[in-house]
Amino acid sequence: MTNLQTLSTNGRCTVEALPPLHILQSVQSAVRTGLSAHPKQLPPFLLYDHRGSNLFEEICRLPEYYLTRTEQSILERCAPELVARFSRDMDLVEFGSGSSIKTRTLLDALFSNGHRPTYRPVDISHTMLNASTTALVSEYPELMIKAIVSDYGRGLEEISRQRERQKVFLFLGSNLGNFTPLEAVDFLAGVRRAMTGDDLLLLGVDLVKPLAVLLPAYDDAAGVTAAFNRNLLVRLNRELGADFRPECFRHEVRWNQEVQAVEMHLASEGDQLVSLPAIDLKISFLAGETIHTESSHKYTSASLAQLCAEAGLAVERSWSDPQNWFALNMIVPS
Ligand code: AVI
Repeated sequence: MTNLQTLSTNGRCTVEALPPLHILQSVQSAVRTGLSAHPKQLPPFLLYDHRGSNLFEEICRLPEYYLTRTEQSILERCAPELVARFSRDMDLVEFGSGSSIKTRTLLDALFSNGHRPTYRPVDISHTMLNASTTALVSEYPELMIKAIVSDYGRGLEEISRQRERQKVFLFLGSNLGNFTPLEAVDFLAGVRRAMTGDDLLLLGVDLVKPLAVLLPAYDDAAGVTAAFNRNLLVRLNRELGADFRPECFRHEVRWNQEVQAVEMHLASEGDQLVSLPAIDLKISFLAGETIHTESSHKYTSASLAQLCAEAGLAVERSWSDPQNWFALNMIVPS
C-alpha cells in the first residue's frame, strides 16, 4: 500500500496525495497495456489532466450534455429530504468531486439544518481539488475538509478507517458509468465493505434513452468533447515524450447496444507510426483503427438494482426528473 503524503494543511483544510511517482507509474503501465491490446484502448482516468479537467467542466455546461443540469435539478428538489437521513456530525465523502458544484446544494441543506459535516473529496486531479477546496473553505466558514488526491481505490482504503461518525458516500454525475460492469461491482463492493452502522451511498446514474439525445451529448456541435478526447494524446506527448499528432485522430462516438454504453474512440486518419520513448514503445495504426478511450454505461432501474445486489447493496429510494433521463439513488447495505 502506498502511503499518502500531506500536501498542505491550512486551518480547516488538509490535502493528502499519492506521491507523483506513483501516479506516473500508473500512467505508464496503463498506456503500455492499453496500446499493446487488440483493439487498442486507454483507461478514461487519463482524460483528466489539468486541461482535461477544465474541458470536462466546460462539457458540463454544454446544451447537449443534459446529465449535469438534470442531476442538479433532482438534487435541489430532494436535498431537504436527503439530509434528514444524515447524522449531525458526519463525513460527506465524494468520489470524483471535480469542482464540487453539486456538493454545494447538499452543503447548503446540511448547514441550514444544523449539521456539522466534514467534507472528504477524493479526486485524481490535484489542480481541480486544490481549486475546489480553496473555494469551499472560504464559502463555508464552518466546513472542515480532508481531501485526498488519488484513485478511488486508494481513497476508499483511507476513508474506511473512519468508523465512528456516519459516512455518506457521494458518487454523482454518472461517474459509475465509466467503469466496466466488473469494475462497477468491484467499486460498489468496496464501498459496501467501508460502510458501517447507518452509512449511505448517494449514487447518480444516467438512464437509457433515445440515441438522438444520447449521442449529441458526447459529440457536441462546438467540438468541446472532441477536444477533451484528443487532449489525452496531448497529455501522452507531454508526459511520455510521445509524438502523437492529435489532429490526425478523429473523435468518434458509438452506441454499444450489447453493453448499453456510449463509447468514445480516437480513429486514426491514416496509417501512422507513433513512438512513446518514455516507455520504449512504438505503435502502428492502420487507417480507421481506433483507440477506445471511454465507455459511459447507461442504466435502467433493473440493471442498477442487479449491479447493487451483486455488491451486497440495495436501492432504498430513487428520485428522477420528469423525462426520466437521470436517477439519483439512495443506496444501503442489503
Ligand atoms: C465523468 N463522466 C461521467 C462523463 C460521462 O458522461 O461519461 C465523462 C464524459 N465524457 C465525455 N463527455 C463527458
